[in-house]
Amino acid sequence: MTDRTKILVTGGTGYIGSHTVVELLEAGYDVVIIDNLSNSNRDVLDGIEKITGRRPEFVEGDCTDLSTLRNLFTNYPGIKGIINFAASKAVGESVEKPLLYYRNNLNTLINLLDLMPEFGVKGIVFSSSCTVYGEPDVNPIDETAPIKPATSPYGNTKQISEEIITDYIASGAPIKSIILRYFNPVGAHPSALIGELPNGVPNNLVPYLTQTAAGLRKELTVFGRDYNTPDGSCIRDFIDVVDLAKAHVVAMRRMLDGQDTDAIEIFNLGTGRGVSVIELIDAFEKATGVKVPHRFGERRAGDIEKIWAVPAKANEVLGWKAEIPIEETMRNAWAWQCHLAEKK
Ligand code: UD1
Repeated sequence: MTDRTKILVTGGTGYIGSHTVVELLEAGYDVVIIDNLSNSNRDVLDGIEKITGRRPEFVEGDCTDLSTLRNLFTNYPGIKGIINFAASKAVGESVEKPLLYYRNNLNTLINLLDLMPEFGVKGIVFSSSCTVYGEPDVNPIDETAPIKPATSPYGNTKQISEEIITDYIASGAPIKSIILRYFNPVGAHPSALIGELPNGVPNNLVPYLTQTAAGLRKELTVFGRDYNTPDGSCIRDFIDVVDLAKAHVVAMRRMLDGQDTDAIEIFNLGTGRGVSVIELIDAFEKATGVKVPHRFGERRAGDIEKIWAVPAKANEVLGWKAEIPIEETMRNAWAWQCHLAEKK
């Protein structure tokens, strides 16, 4: 079934954004991307076109600027839904540059919400994070778990954003929203035509791991060996980025077409399995046959010991489930790293 509904994807050339654009196009949606290319580049559009045979509309611009967005909605009339990926996401950087994070992440959201009723946009899917749960008292964790004080400005922007959306809808704004709390998105599209493009030295585990496997980095440091976990390293819920992207399509359909659904809904997006950093390295080595030189180092400030999801609500209500096995995810991450090396 095709659906020519027009969707605005902010941050659509970024990592999760680009994978979601692919899934939207393959589901038949029309897509307009706005991205300021601060952490991505135009070549991503070629990758999307090669995979889907369709090229999304693209506007280079900054969502913190209200007039840029107003022009976009005027030039592309009929946008029915928004998926908002446009945000800064490096935890450490957010501690050093808090205003950058509050400005980017909050102004973008406020501008979008502000313009939605005026331009008849019915719903917004918002990218939140399991970071809102802080260090959970129990695992796995469902959506009713308490929100803990944020440990970084980045995390705080996610909490405040959820509150802004909630308050706006409570005020009677004629919109709907689905808030998706991602656990740890990893991997790349199986075509190896799009993937994660970290700027400089990667902060996140998987890009650092694949760069180390490729010989670009000497060794991977496993941050901490004395956590209260079976092997002493942290535990996360690593979710394949394609599985994650598909959840956005389902959420969009529910938000725009669903009758009698709540104006605001929140879903955890994870696999329901906790995997340690050491187990992830093992899975990568097993899946690819490539060794990852690594050693244990100090704990990283601000890290959560262990967190993984109860994805039951998304499974049941959205009818969505993470399906891709971790080994396949690791093979795809490696194929993407090899593709990047070939391009150079
Ligand atoms: C963090 C944020 C999350 C955000 C995500 C994307 C928190 C608590 N989490 O996730 O909200 O969406 O970044 O930027 O704020 N590790 C190593 N060596 C490395 C890199 C990482 O051992 O070189 C370990 C970390 O200690 C951690 C795990 O790998 O235990 C995952 O780290 P990372 O990929 O950075 O993601 P999170 O910190 O879980």
